Amino acid sequence: MEKGVFIVLEGLDGCGKSTQAKLLYEWLKKEGYNALITAEPTRNEIGRCIRKILSGKKRYNPKTLSYLFISDRHEHLEKEIKPALDNKKIVICERYYHSTIAYQAAQGIDMEYLIELNSFAMDPEIKPDLVIFLDVKPDIAASRTSTGEIFENEKFLRGVRENYLRLDNLTRIDGNRPIEEVFSDMKKVVSVLL
Ligand code: TMP
Repeated sequence: MEKGVFIVLEGLDGCGKSTQAKLLYEWLKKEGYNALITAEPTRNEIGRCIRKILSGKKRYNPKTLSYLFISDRHEHLEKEIKPALDNKKIVICERYYHSTIAYQAAQGIDMEYLIELNSFAMDPEIKPDLVIFLDVKPDIAASRTSTGEIFENEKFLRGVRENYLRLDNLTRIDGNRPIEEVFSDMKKVVSVLL
């Protein structure tokens, strides 16, 4: 591998992406690869601020939230993702710009505007090699969530799913199945990159 591999996992709250990301990480390590598992929102100051807003105690304008997600992403890209790729690691990232497009568009922000806004935080040289969309029915996804964050409701998640399905270059995996079956498909699509 000359450069690292950048894998993004996307999906609704409750789609099982954290479980699949961990399984993927462990499997890659066992196969002898150097991998990094990371997520957005991050654990840094901006990410923590976002988590507070997601808890719903105070209402924030969706545009403000978009700017925060994008700022968090910019720091994440520069400080964690890029260095890991430069070190030839396989980066497994839970959520990336597709989340901003799918979720903040579901909050009523124009999709084209969000795409353009994201492009300011992006490095055109760094594109995900694979974006997996773990597709789960919104009612199942909502029933699996329990943190009480603001986006965890079936009606909203239905809109988010529709937005995801409008995006190009997503590899869809049916996440409504048992964990092992989903992971078997994950391994198949990731193996192509290795
Ligand atoms: P998580 O539950 O996967 O950790 O993600 C936190 C929540 O933040 C989830 O409801 C999706 C939402 N989100 C956005 O609305 N926009 C974004 O850009 C990102 C990264 C997450």
